[in-house]
Amino acid sequence: MEQLDMGITIIGCGSATPETLFDNQDMSQIVATSDEWIRTRTGIKTRHLASEDESLSECATQAAEKALAMAGITARELDLIILATSTPDDLFGSASQIQSRLGASRAVSFDLTAACSGFVFGLVTAAQFIRTGLYQNVLIIGADFLSRWVDWTNRSTCVLFGDGAGAVVCQGTYQQDRLLGFELRSDGSKNACLNLIYQGQCKSLNDEVSISQGCYQPLTMRGKEIYRFVMEKVPEVVEKALFRANLTSEQIDWLILHQANQRIINAVAQRLKIPQEKTIGNLAHYGNTSAASIPLALDEAVRLGKIQSEDIVAISGFGAGLSWGAVIFQWGR
Ligand code: ACO
Repeated sequence: MEQLDMGITIIGCGSATPETLFDNQDMSQIVATSDEWIRTRTGIKTRHLASEDESLSECATQAAEKALAMAGITARELDLIILATSTPDDLFGSASQIQSRLGASRAVSFDLTAACSGFVFGLVTAAQFIRTGLYQNVLIIGADFLSRWVDWTNRSTCVLFGDGAGAVVCQGTYQQDRLLGFELRSDGSKNACLNLIYQGQCKSLNDEVSISQGCYQPLTMRGKEIYRFVMEKVPEVVEKALFRANLTSEQIDWLILHQANQRIINAVAQRLKIPQEKTIGNLAHYGNTSAASIPLALDEAVRLGKIQSEDIVAISGFGAGLSWGAVIFQWGR
C-alpha cells in the first residue's frame, strides 16, 4: 500500500495586544510629526503600547490560549512551541516561559529570531518538524514589543511601531496537505539597513584580557532603502512560493503582507495583479508589530469571517536581516 506523506493544516489562530492606545495625535505631542504625515506615509492611525508591568510572555500566552481554543486542543497536546520574536523578556529565550504559563508540559520550546519575517520563518520551521513525523501539534507565536527598543526622540522610527502578539496552531494530517508552498530568503549584505545592535565598551579583566560590556542600542532603520528592497523582493518571493504551490496569483483569495506600510501593501498587490479588496490590512489600528503583524492580521480576518474555509492565503514577511519570505496555505481543516 502507498505510504501517504504527512501534511500540515492550520487548525486555530489567536491574537492579543496591550490595552494602552497611543494615537497619532499623542505622537505629535512628543516628536515633531502630525497625524496627516503618519497616515499618508504609512496608513497608521494608532498603536497599542505595552506598559512597564506587561510582559511579552504574558501577551504571547494570551494569543496562544485563543489559538488553542479555536483549534480545540489542550496545551498538554502540544509537542513544540516556537516563539518568533526580536524582543524577548529574556535574551536566553522566552518560549519556555510561555510553555510554563500555558501548562504545555509535554512541549519543547524555543525562540526564533528573524525580525518581521519571524512568523513566516517560524511557520516553515514548524512544518519541517511536522512533515518528518516528529511532532503532531505545533504552536507558532509571533510577538514583539518594539516600543521597548525604539528611540522615542526619533520621529523617523518611533511613529511606525506597535506592540502585540499573534499565534497559530499547526497539526500534522494524512488528509489534504494545506501548506502549499513557501520560499525563504536572507541577504546579510544589507544588514545595516535595519538594526537593533549590541554596543559595548572595553572592560579590562586583567593586564592581558579585556572583554566587551554593554547593551542593545535603539532600533535604526534606513526606511527608503528598505522600501525599495521590499518593492523588488516581495513580489518575487510571493511568485516563487506560488510557483512551488503550482498556483497563479489569480488563485489567491487573500494576501496578507507584513504590516509595515499601507503604500507597500497596495504597491505589492498591484505588482502581483491582486485586487486591493483581496488584501488584508490592519495597520491603521496596530502599526508595525514586527513578528506579530501577520498572525494578528490573519486572526482578525478569520474572526471577522473574511477568510473562509478552503480559501487560499498568501502571507509574506520582510524586515531586518535583511530577511524575507512567503508561504501559501489553504485555510480550514
Ligand atoms: N513626521 C514628519 N516628518 C517626518 C517623519 C515624521 N514622523 N519621519 C520622517 N519625516 C521627514 C523626514 O525627516 C524627511 O524630511 P526631509 O525631506 O526634510 O529630509 C521626510 O519626512 C521624508 O522622509 P523619508 O524617510 O524619506 O520618508 P518616506 O516617504 O521614505 O517614509 C517610511 C518613511 C514610512 C519609513 C518608509 O520609508 C517605509 O515604510 N519604509 C519601509 C519600512 C519597512 O518596511 N521596514 C521593514 C520592516 S520593520 C522590521 O523589520 C523591524
